[in-house]
Formats: sequence, C-alpha cells, structure tokens
Amino acid sequence: GAPVEVDLSKMEPGQLLRVAWRGKPVWILNRTPKVLDDLKSLDDQLSDPLSQASLQPTSSKNHFRSIKPELFVALGLCTHLGCSPTFRPEIAPSDLGAQWKGGFFCPCHGSKFDLAGRVYSGVPAPTNLEVPPYRYLSDTRLIIG
Ligand code: FES
Repeated sequence: GAPVEVDLSKMEPGQLLRVAWRGKPVWILNRTPKVLDDLKSLDDQLSDPLSQASLQPTSSKNHFRSIKPELFVALGLCTHLGCSPTFRPEIAPSDLGAQWKGGFFCPCHGSKFDLAGRVYSGVPAPTNLEVPPYRYLSDTRLIIG
C-alpha cells in the first residue's frame, strides 16, 4: 500500500481525524495540554503503561507514544480481535466510570484504551493500540507509511 499524506492545518484541539492506510483505519488525535497531563496519572491502571509489549516505531516509543506529544497517531483496531473502538473523549462521569479521563472503548468485548492508545488492565485486549510508521513532512503535513 502507498503512504498516505495527511493535512493537519485545519485540526482543532481535541479533534480526531480518521484516514485509511492499507485498508486499515488510522486515527490522528490532536491532544490538548489537559489530556497530556491526565495521561501521566493513569499508569497504575494500565497493562503496559510504558508500551514495552506493544507495537510502535522507535520514534513513538515514549510516554505519549508519539513524535510530537500533542499529535497521536494509531491504528484504529482493537488488539483483541480487531474491532474498531469508539472515540470516547468525555472527561465527565459516564458509563465508563467517574474516573474516566477519555479514551477509546471497544464495543465488541469491552476493552478500554486511554488517549495514548494504552490498554487498561482487566480487559480482553492484550496490548496497546498499534502506532503505524509515520513522519512529518512539515508542521502541518504528515505521511503515514
Ligand atoms: Fe475489542 Fe474484543 S475485539 S475487545
């Protein structure tokens, strides 16, 4: 499959952009400073907080799982059996629990991921969402693949 170029110039804070790459959904999420701050408080609820057992390029093997902290890029496929999780960014109490800081929820068997794609403990998905290879062509253009 060919690499896919993405224009980031119109992205709003908090926005999730969806593109397709090699027939797979890829998500690009513009994370706010509040989200980045919240991510730091979640480690003890996660299966693989440092992404040691999860798939990402070396350039994204860091706490935010991304090249630029604010821009998160991931495959939109659950690491359990490949359903596509739903985007659940809300911070307020919800059916996901009063402690929910926003993330992704897989409707197939209930796996939960934070806004760095890191999987919560006690759900079927074994690892964090996969980060595909990508790089920046400029501040407002990135290329996946
Ligand atoms: Fe997502 Fe099973 S496919 S929880």
